[in-house]
Amino acid sequence: MFSSSINFEGNLSSFNTQEPQRAPIGIFDSGVGGLTVLRQLYQQLPHESIIYFGDTARLPYGIRSQAEILQYVREILEWMQKQGVKMVIMACNTSSALALEAVRTEYNIPILGLILPGAKAAVRLGKRVGVIATPATAKSNAYKQAIMEIATDVEVWQVGCPEFVPLIEQNRIHDPYTIQVASSYLEPLLEKEIDTLIYGCTHYPHLAPVLRSLLPEHIQLIDPAVHVVAACAQELDLLGLKNTHPPLPTRFAVSGCSQQFAQSSLQWLGCTPTVETVSFTNIEISHAKKD
Ligand code: DGL
Repeated sequence: MFSSSINFEGNLSSFNTQEPQRAPIGIFDSGVGGLTVLRQLYQQLPHESIIYFGDTARLPYGIRSQAEILQYVREILEWMQKQGVKMVIMACNTSSALALEAVRTEYNIPILGLILPGAKAAVRLGKRVGVIATPATAKSNAYKQAIMEIATDVEVWQVGCPEFVPLIEQNRIHDPYTIQVASSYLEPLLEKEIDTLIYGCTHYPHLAPVLRSLLPEHIQLIDPAVHVVAACAQELDLLGLKNTHPPLPTRFAVSGCSQQFAQSSLQWLGCTPTVETVSFTNIEISHAKKD
């Protein structure tokens, strides 16, 4: 189901002009985090063809500057555009927080981010909202601002969790150290007596069993992936872009080691995908500098 032996390059441009509904949705993240959004796409929009890009050569995004994130996001969007996608979901909160506003009008494709759908879902459920996110997303205040714009009576606390993404990428989910780190990140939020917690990074739903075991039962967990995909479905309807044909196999591409990504995504997808490697100019330059 996940292998991609089809030559997309030739097919997609013709889909895009003659049958735009059949063009794929592009989604991207720094690594395996976006697979939590991909799983939602499979559940909610099973007829859509999807291209997944993981910028694994430049992971983690959450400790990078806004200028770096903007540059990476532009490179990815240009590549996505060349693949003939009909819509892009930023399956990455850091990109959504730091780059979405700037790039949205630069491309001729609808681009969706996670922050607003996640914020809307949180205010429907809670009054005391905690957000766990990458340091860059927490520092940007994106969730706090989005929530305050919708509901001024909701309080928001954000915690940057720098250790989570490397631990998840190394598949150390049930490691006692991960549980200890998670407990220390949740502590300040539990002290504030939050009633709702947003996964402010798409990697974090992979930690669900650990986080759930540390949180009192009454605290509701919000996964913005569920809500951005619901927003995507609405947008496709509105634009008349929903695919009604059988989907193509998902195409996976990464900027780093394809084999490593294929191996680490096995446990989240239930099978080993075929993964291509894509190189952007500046990745080559930075490798050249190191050598
Ligand atoms: N999963 C991404 C996010 O939602 C990026 C995490 C990272 O690379 O630091 O922010």
